[in-house]
Amino acid sequence: MARFYQTTPIYYVNDAPHIGHAYTTVNADAFARWHRLLGDDVWFLTGTDEHGRKVAEAAAERGMSPREWADLTSRRFRDAWVELDVAPDDFIRTTEPRHHEVVQRFLGEIKDRGYIQLGTFEGLYCVACEDYYTDEELVGGNCPVHDRPVELMKEENYFFQLSRFQDRLLSWYEKCPTAILPESRRNEAAGFVRGGLKDISITRVSIDWGVRVPWDPDHVFYVWYDALVNYLTAIGYGTDLQRFSTWWPGVHHLIAKDILRFHCVWWPAMCMAAGIDPPHQVLVHGWLLVGGEKMSKTRLNNIAPGELVKEFGVDAVRYHLLRDTPLGADGDFSYEGMISRYNADLANNLGNLLQRVAAVVHSKCAGIGPAAPQPSAREAAEPASHASVEGLAAAATGGVAAAVSAWSRYAPHLALEATWALIHEANSLLESAEPWKASPGPEVDEVMGAALEALRIVAILAYPAMPRAAGVVWERIGMAGSPGDCRLPDDAAWGGYPGGLLVTKGSPLFPRKVATP
Ligand code: ME8
Ligand code: MG
Repeated sequence: MARFYQTTPIYYVNDAPHIGHAYTTVNADAFARWHRLLGDDVWFLTGTDEHGRKVAEAAAERGMSPREWADLTSRRFRDAWVELDVAPDDFIRTTEPRHHEVVQRFLGEIKDRGYIQLGTFEGLYCVACEDYYTDEELVGGNCPVHDRPVELMKEENYFFQLSRFQDRLLSWYEKCPTAILPESRRNEAAGFVRGGLKDISITRVSIDWGVRVPWDPDHVFYVWYDALVNYLTAIGYGTDLQRFSTWWPGVHHLIAKDILRFHCVWWPAMCMAAGIDPPHQVLVHGWLLVGGEKMSKTRLNNIAPGELVKEFGVDAVRYHLLRDTPLGADGDFSYEGMISRYNADLANNLGNLLQRVAAVVHSKCAGIGPAAPQPSAREAAEPASHASVEGLAAAATGGVAAAVSAWSRYAPHLALEATWALIHEANSLLESAEPWKASPGPEVDEVMGAALEALRIVAILAYPAMPRAAGVVWERIGMAGSPGDCRLPDDAAWGGYPGGLLVTKGSPLFPRKVATP
């Protein structure tokens, strides 16, 4: 059985979650759900990154202790994921004792293997990034990401000898061409490594909100060094060898390009230094922009996921995040874009199909859904017309194949496009057959059985993106259980709708939206 360990970045608790975080987390949740449909063993982890100066400063500004502030904000992330139907198997907080233990053990291992040395550190630091910059990287003297002043830091620190990993990293990129996706990001990481690697300072004496360095308790680990290790803590590194060896080989990190260097250069080097395999895969996506700018907690363009959920419903928000920004590219988030996508795909296409099917099954089939028709020899002999039962069955088979392939290439937008093409075909069949005008009988039953079967398949394919709406479709066409219990590809093969089931009419799943000025 394949094992799929999906992670998201653990988010800083310096402020509330916005839809940029939701973008990554919903994608990760959809991948986890998709792999469950494939029958894989799945572990899905998210959480919060609670140490470092940025968090300590956010707490101080509110007159709270870092711990109180972290408790409060971590809870907001957890709640946001509940609101978005994101269902992680574990939610890790870096302030937990289990994490401190693993960080100490993991970094202790790296030290024992001779890759950590004492040295003096000097650098230009951006607290918002929790990262250092060279003079050349600054823009007008400010941090290139946050456009705020950097500060000169000088300390005696422990250093990780990253410079010793240049060749090992380059040969890893080469030997494992799919370890970093997309390829452009792998090239970016390789370019960075080729430019020369400096050793990096991994401890601090100037702060104490962090994980204590076990061999020198005046120091705490620099927040990034503790944060990355969360991926190991959650699967029992150093404490449960069996669990660790079950999940680590199947790890899939999902991140945005802002933290590429940490995940594609530092992290694999740290793993190598500790004597474990570098991560199996790091998938790097772009930024969700608002009005052309990166959303951030420090700018005013951040949008709370909960506000959108209130307005559009959870399924529409998830759909929009997955459908409108191909994973990898930057995408612009706009309210107008969300409304037009909602009306076109959800209200007019899926919602309309469900509503029509239930209405006709009630007016012409006494409310009982007829079974999926098996494509007949008669129709197969005729030229393939799309608006036929034959054509719909073929579109379903093609749609399932296209969706399976797109999900496996981490292209949810294409998987959903293929799924929605099938919905469109089913609507076309109804429009050309006009069963609402016909007399009850085998011909109406055949068309309605086909439309119900298309809805059944659509519910399975749409489940990773919109588990709740998929469940409603499933229930309304009379199926028992949940589309999430299905197994691909077999359960999505044409012919699975058994017929004889009570079809329910209900209120519109996605009522049309009118843009509010
Ligand atoms: O970097 N568009 O945390 P963070 C797309 N704690 N994704 C976005 C986004 C946007 N506008 N804004 C945020 C940290 N993200 C560290 C991570 S991991 C060991 C430690 C998402 O709160 C995206 O996944 O700044 C990005 O990589 C992450 O949030 C950064 O979250
Ligand atoms: Mg950030």
